[in-house]
Amino acid sequence: MKKYKLLSFPQLGDDRGHLVVVEGMKNIPFEIKRMFYIYGTKENVIRGQHANRKSEFVLINLAGSCKIKIDDGVNEEIITLNKPHEGVYLDKMVWKDMYDFSEDSILLVLSNHSYDSEEYVRNYTKFKKEMNK
Ligand code: TYD
Repeated sequence: MKKYKLLSFPQLGDDRGHLVVVEGMKNIPFEIKRMFYIYGTKENVIRGQHANRKSEFVLINLAGSCKIKIDDGVNEEIITLNKPHEGVYLDKMVWKDMYDFSEDSILLVLSNHSYDSEEYVRNYTKFKKEMNK
């Protein structure tokens, strides 16, 4: 089974504009413990390039666009995030590269876990080896 999933959030807009709600254990499949956002990303930058042993994530590109290359050990996919009402859920131990950020991209990241630099797998070969066991 894939360890990632595209999410589509209802737009609760009216004639004043749009509103999207993300809520832990409702349309986000975990209790939200942490959020961070990435913006002002320079051209040709690739972020991420790691897997996490404990953290699950939901990525939502709030403005502009970016691409996410996902590798869950079995499946590989490139997803374009360019709508503030769409996101992608990444389970633990999913390798992700974030790249092709537009100048105005704001990438919101929600997680079930607080930051812990020890939980990062930063070596792709090691990740692949471990996933193929
Ligand atoms: P980095 O791991 O490079 O982010 P990305 O996964 O997007 O490439 O993180 C950049 C810096 O921010 C690094 O010094 C660690 C710090 N950081 C935190 O303190 N808490 C966090 O939740 C995250 C994601 C990063």
